[in-house]
Amino acid sequence: MRFATIGHFLDENLVKQFPESWVHGKLLISPELDVRGAKGYITGLTLTAREMMQLPREQVRNHILDAAVLLQDDFHVDLIQLGALTTSVTEGGVWVAHQRQYRGFVNHGDSYTAAVTCQAVMKALQLFDKKSSDQVLAIVGAYGVIGEAVTKILISKFRHSILIGRQKEKLVELQKTIDGDFETSLELRTNEADVVVTATSHPDALIKSEHLKKGAIVVDVSQPANLSSVVCDKRPDVCRVDGGLVDFPYVTGIPGMAPGKNFSCIIEVIMQAMENEKENHVGSIDLAHLRKTEDWGKKYGFTLNELTNFGKTVQRVR
Ligand SMILES: NC(=O)c1ccc[n+]([C@@H]2O[C@H](COP(=O)([O-])OP(=O)(O)OC[C@H]3O[C@@H](n4cnc5c(N)ncnc54)[C@H](OP(=O)(O)O)[C@@H]3O)[C@@H](O)[C@H]2O)c1
Repeated sequence: MRFATIGHFLDENLVKQFPESWVHGKLLISPELDVRGAKGYITGLTLTAREMMQLPREQVRNHILDAAVLLQDDFHVDLIQLGALTTSVTEGGVWVAHQRQYRGFVNHGDSYTAAVTCQAVMKALQLFDKKSSDQVLAIVGAYGVIGEAVTKILISKFRHSILIGRQKEKLVELQKTIDGDFETSLELRTNEADVVVTATSHPDALIKSEHLKKGAIVVDVSQPANLSSVVCDKRPDVCRVDGGLVDFPYVTGIPGMAPGKNFSCIIEVIMQAMENEKENHVGSIDLAHLRKTEDWGKKYGFTLNELTNFGKTVQRVR
């Protein structure tokens, strides 16, 4: 199977960093990658995160579909991964999977991302000698594709959880599917939590210093990041961890990606191509598939080895 990931600019600063040879009209396309025999491309729409969320939804979706069809017809791609906010604007990828012009498979890559996020939470607690059963967890974006899976996996491990979202009805729906000691909130009550997971489609930094308790651990899976390096610099007591970055020495030189690391959503689709698994993975996460992606990660050696903050190793300083 030939794979392609479809992302977008995470912020304006990235726009000028891509080589000319990547530009194919409105789409940036990497040279062909060969990751231990799995061949494909990393591509990106020439839209910023803010444009992804603010332009008319139909217009953005049509850009995504045009990209998928171009990759299918001209680059013989048969497996598309929806990166960053392309999942959020396509109903978790379900919309793309239903379009007749694109005949291949679709994966949002959120299953492995949710798995790695949970691993990062547990690893960060271990680093600070803390037990999850003593801690309060907050999940921002709790009923999103990643947020829902992270919620289902983590809440039973924590003393108490605050599940945060902007739509009451969706919080009520989520509440019906989970057990544990938790409450839901429409307010950004992250300052009551020892551990915060962000998994939102907010197009830039959302968490300010006042939203964080002293010594909080923040596992920030959102792309663009929900906790900025500016706030991290102001709050050295807070430990920010990249939620979905995994060690990956095979693809280098991609603007916006930390050297030697890659986003777990991209790795998921590369592993699917390696496995030649002909299935869609869109919408709500199937936890059995999530576990399978963790097994694939172990099989291919793409596991989470070290915690990073914007790509730099996280060390215990307190
Ligand atoms: N690091 C990685 O490897 C990786 C991989 C995949 C995805 N991601 C990132 O992970 C994030 C989540 O992805 P996803 O696919 O789960 O997206 P999703 O399904 O669209 O979920 C995002 C959720 O965030 C909520 N939200 C948006 N703004 C919010 C705010 N201000 N406060 C609280 N909730 C808010 C949205 O709900 P409402 O609109 O109803 O509020 C939505 O339910 C995205 O930033 C994506 O780029 C990272």
